[in-house]
Amino acid sequence: MDKKKEVIVLGIESSCDDTSAAVLRNQELLSNVIANQKVHENYGGVVPELASRAHQQNIIPVVDQAIKQAGITKDDIDVIAYTRGPGLLGSLLVGTSFTKGFSIANNIPMVDVNHLQGHVLAHFIREEGEPVEEPKFPFLCLLVSGGNSQLIVVKDHLEMKVIGQTIDDAAGEAFDKCAKVMGLPYPGGPLIDKLAKEGNPDAFQFSKPRIQNLDYSFSGLKTSFLYFLRDRIKENPDFIEENKADICASLQKTIIDILMNKLIKATKETGIKEITVAGGVSANSGLRNALQEEAKKRGWNLFIPKFAYTTDNAAMIGITGYFKFLNEEMSALEDVPFARMVIE
Ligand code: KG4
Repeated sequence: MDKKKEVIVLGIESSCDDTSAAVLRNQELLSNVIANQKVHENYGGVVPELASRAHQQNIIPVVDQAIKQAGITKDDIDVIAYTRGPGLLGSLLVGTSFTKGFSIANNIPMVDVNHLQGHVLAHFIREEGEPVEEPKFPFLCLLVSGGNSQLIVVKDHLEMKVIGQTIDDAAGEAFDKCAKVMGLPYPGGPLIDKLAKEGNPDAFQFSKPRIQNLDYSFSGLKTSFLYFLRDRIKENPDFIEENKADICASLQKTIIDILMNKLIKATKETGIKEITVAGGVSANSGLRNALQEEAKKRGWNLFIPKFAYTTDNAAMIGITGYFKFLNEEMSALEDVPFARMVIE
């Protein structure tokens, strides 16, 4: 394959509750369309069956819009990159089946993408008129989303090694589950972030895990948070309402401390000072501040993604597909999606 050739990639993402399609010319983003699903708001979490139905409704208009916005036609597309997993199986099946149909109908090759790898490689998406600064290999990525909390050594675009990960809940799950206990709607992470800005982060103490290696754990925090609120509400039924900002600020600080402690440990163990962060929780303002402070103190070269690339999007699937395409790692028609998929 001629690596200098201009490659037009159509990326498709449907792993959870966002239907997204993006078009890239090599690393340059031409369009990135996302249809969010409001239908889950009343249920306190994503309802898998409703998510797949919404993907079914959204996928064709979303792809159509992405192609039009990019100023191309379907005949210009060289490869379709789709999310193979991890995620909700019904949701993944919509993106996978659409990709296969589109591939056969238009005779375009496919590349399957690990969603987690997509989050990590979001830093390689280029936007017109913006300075190009990419992390240098090897770099360390703190991947924090609703389903994952991992520390990854990224040796190359397609060579990654997980050196630490959660043994129970993910950081985003901790935000969302604690928010639910407080009676806040799903997803709770952004709301806790907002409320925390007005609160005292040292007002309350919650338990932190004592794990020696680089693994994370958030289930103990969730339980201690639950018991803490239960006890305080017994004394004062309005405790949450009266202390909302302080509770959120203290909870957020605890989650950030847990994340940062292991990241610092990982930089010391690996000697890597090129640091990136990825995933939904990387939108958190407290985490962004903590990362910037530590980077300054410790001489890290830090890469924080744009907000648009923190949550699920097809641009990151497209960029990963681009690198896999260059590496000739194509996908076959019989490849099926996986609800569970690891990085290695
Ligand atoms: O990466 P993502 O969009 O979905 C996957 O898990 O794939 O991450 C969603 C998670 C949710 O748990 C949400 O509460 C969290 O990211 N999140 C935040 C913030 N924005 C999104 N958590 C804390 N602070 C935020 N600003």
